[in-house]
Amino acid sequence: MPRHLAAILICLSVLFSLSAASGAMAQSSVSPQTSTVDSNPAVSKLDDILRRQEGLKSSDETIRSNEIGDPAKAKPISSQLGTLGGASDADLWRAFRFGEADITTQARVPAATTLIQDGGMWWLDFRRGPLQTIAIYLLGGTLLALAVFYLIRGRIRIDGEKTGRTLLRFSAFERFGHWMLASSFILLGLTGLISLFGRKVIIPAFGHEAFSSVAIVSKWVHNNVSWAFMIALIFIFVVWVIHNIPDRTDLRWLLKGGGLFGGGHPPAKKFNAGQKLIFWAVILLGGSISLSGLSLLFPFEFNLFGHTFSLLNGWGVSGWFGMADLPYPLAPQEEMQYAQLWHALVSLILTAIILAHIYLGSIGMEGAFDAMGKGEVEEQWAREHHSIWAEEVAGQKTTVRKEP
Ligand code: HEM
Repeated sequence: MPRHLAAILICLSVLFSLSAASGAMAQSSVSPQTSTVDSNPAVSKLDDILRRQEGLKSSDETIRSNEIGDPAKAKPISSQLGTLGGASDADLWRAFRFGEADITTQARVPAATTLIQDGGMWWLDFRRGPLQTIAIYLLGGTLLALAVFYLIRGRIRIDGEKTGRTLLRFSAFERFGHWMLASSFILLGLTGLISLFGRKVIIPAFGHEAFSSVAIVSKWVHNNVSWAFMIALIFIFVVWVIHNIPDRTDLRWLLKGGGLFGGGHPPAKKFNAGQKLIFWAVILLGGSISLSGLSLLFPFEFNLFGHTFSLLNGWGVSGWFGMADLPYPLAPQEEMQYAQLWHALVSLILTAIILAHIYLGSIGMEGAFDAMGKGEVEEQWAREHHSIWAEEVAGQKTTVRKEP
């Protein structure tokens, strides 16, 4: 009897191990099949479908971008799940989305045949989310930093005794250019901020009707005042570029931090290094804002970003930062979206710089505003902040006095 029991146990264990082995074999024969399905490039993968259901971008769009109703690829009518040979609605929508549909229209504008444009959603989300956050932190942070600076340093006073004499700092011509630039920039900044924040701030506070009127006026002012800004920018460049070419005095001025936190007044010519930085920021950033603004003012007329991206890709620039290539080619609307984002970001950076400039040119420094207000500055102020220039001008003045 024990021998029978032992035989039965041995048979059972052999049977178990055989069935386990066959199960493993069955599994191993299934997995290659599954992997065949996964690696089939013609089939959307499950994780891609799940990503799209969550509103995320598919990791590989090529599968769907190829499925746009090519009759040659359609399953024959006779086969299982066969089609009628033509494009289905889904094929058609995919063709719209990937810009492959054969669309004809009477409208002769560049963007008329783009019916669906993926980049629009990313741009919209960025514009009403991160862009506004950047604006708040950048402008709010600058105002806060200026307030802290004022609390620590106070108003920068004229150190020495005032002479009661004045030196001509800016001619009426120069002041006209400056104030044309300044007033247009301030109007553009305010109306630009209204168009960025209007929906979030004005609609909840004052309602749609009020926002509509404000937005229409803002847009009109923004579009038209831009010309005054561009003209003033060229004007200022021509008049002041000669005084803003960097030289050795600037290096010494920068090494002493401009004497902003005490430590004397480093010598400077008509413009010190800090002012030269402001000048070049205004010219370069203002120039870039003008260019991107012009491309927004004349939509689809000239493309700035597609060409730039393809140039940068050619040089491998994104690779230097470990990033993928920049998108190219761009749909006409994408050009506009990049132009808008660039325009807004660069304007915000320049506005932050100009806030600091306005502070120093008004409440931040005793005697500075007179230069742009009356055109004349206290001689002692000039000797402290622009000693080399003051020496030159005061010398000329003496010469002029001696002549008759
Ligand atoms: C209420 C606003 C503003 C005030 C009170 C103001 C004040 C001044 C003053 C006092 C100066 C002469 C500084 C000196 O004598 O050394 C100056 C120069 C200058 N301003 Fe303004 N400004 C204002 C707005 C602007 C704006 C909006 C821009 C450009 C978008 C601008 C661009 C310049 C430039 C490029 C210079 C020459 C370089 C420099 O001094 O930094 N200003 N401003």
